[in-house]
Amino acid sequence: MPTRILGIESSCDETAAAIVVDGREILSSVVASQLDIHRKYGGVVPELASREHLRQIVPVVREALSQAGLTFADLDAVGVTHGPGLVGALLVGLTYAKVLAAEIGKPLIPVNHLEGHVHAVFLEAHLAGRTPTLPAVCLIVSGGHTLLYHVQTSGEEGDAAERGFQFRRLGGTRDDAAGEAYDKVARLLALGYPGGPIIDQIASRVVAAGNVFADEDRLNFGPVKMKGNAHDFSFSGIKTAVLYYVREHPEFTGEIEARKKALEQGLRKAADLAPLCSPRTLSLISNFQSAVVRDLTTRTLAAASETGSHTVLVSGGVAANSALRKQFEAKAGPAGVDVFFPSRALSTDNAAMIAAAAYPHLLAGDIAADELNAEPNLRLA
Ligand code: KG4
Ligand code: ZN
Repeated sequence: MPTRILGIESSCDETAAAIVVDGREILSSVVASQLDIHRKYGGVVPELASREHLRQIVPVVREALSQAGLTFADLDAVGVTHGPGLVGALLVGLTYAKVLAAEIGKPLIPVNHLEGHVHAVFLEAHLAGRTPTLPAVCLIVSGGHTLLYHVQTSGEEGDAAERGFQFRRLGGTRDDAAGEAYDKVARLLALGYPGGPIIDQIASRVVAAGNVFADEDRLNFGPVKMKGNAHDFSFSGIKTAVLYYVREHPEFTGEIEARKKALEQGLRKAADLAPLCSPRTLSLISNFQSAVVRDLTTRTLAAASETGSHTVLVSGGVAANSALRKQFEAKAGPAGVDVFFPSRALSTDNAAMIAAAAYPHLLAGDIAADELNAEPNLRLA
């Protein structure tokens, strides 16, 4: 009999529910984003996130069931994110899932959000009829995380969807997460929130237009030097370099004010904002992105080579970045590595990845204890 798991995710600013069969087939995946609520604050406001999860959780779960054509009685288990994330936000999904599982008499499976991101890559690969070979190096790169793991299968039988994974932490950011750096630079340059997608789109216009800038306009950020663990990341230096450059050039003030006005009028697209950017700003945006992308790809591929892994998995919101994808694809072949990304919808927070991650734990009998609590700082390894 196929096993149908309802996944529930509320760790940050997306309320999500999904139904996945046997950890592989997505029957439905519903995500209610709170972007419009947090946008005017330029970041996620925890209190508002919790309140919005409370409003959304019931309709989102109903919608996931309805899209899958199922009722609660058809479910075999409920998987829920219990960390890491914002404590108030996590508690909404967790409390709801606990009550639901008890009500329908089905097991509740606690899921680590980060493990979910790894399963997102396998869900996508499955859709494409591919199977990433393990061991792999996995880069989880989002607004909250920049982490590098060595991933191996656990358990004895079956494929990755059934056996689950074992993780060894190789490194992580010492300061800002990569997505956080994108968001902060976008705020500094008045490009709106979230920063990743808009910087991605504007930077790709710069590339498409060719290098039209004079040498003195081209800001070159050198490679980030790390003392100690070479698999660690640091993005605050790149972000601060942008900040200083903007501060040192008062001529940026006028265009920043113009973009703020445009944003206030709801003009948020690259087509609206790029024409309000001077060549110098375009150059700054493109070089910021190049520096981040170069650092992420170089360190991840070095980790793959060092651990003898021929597979790289990339997941999390920043995995949607087009330059990151291109650069990984360009460098992976020559390095003898296969690289896998989830689709955009599976890269950012969703509940299909939580339902998929719950499946091997259900098979292994990892059922939640009654006292299961939210763990804002939960680690993977
Ligand atoms: O995984 P996610 O939806 O939420 C968590 O942070 O867990 O990731 C959101 C982050 C934001 O910082 C956003 O700016 C970034 O992912 N992001 C991107 C892109 N799309 C989203 N960063 C770079 N390029 C993108 N295309
Ligand atoms: Zn996430």
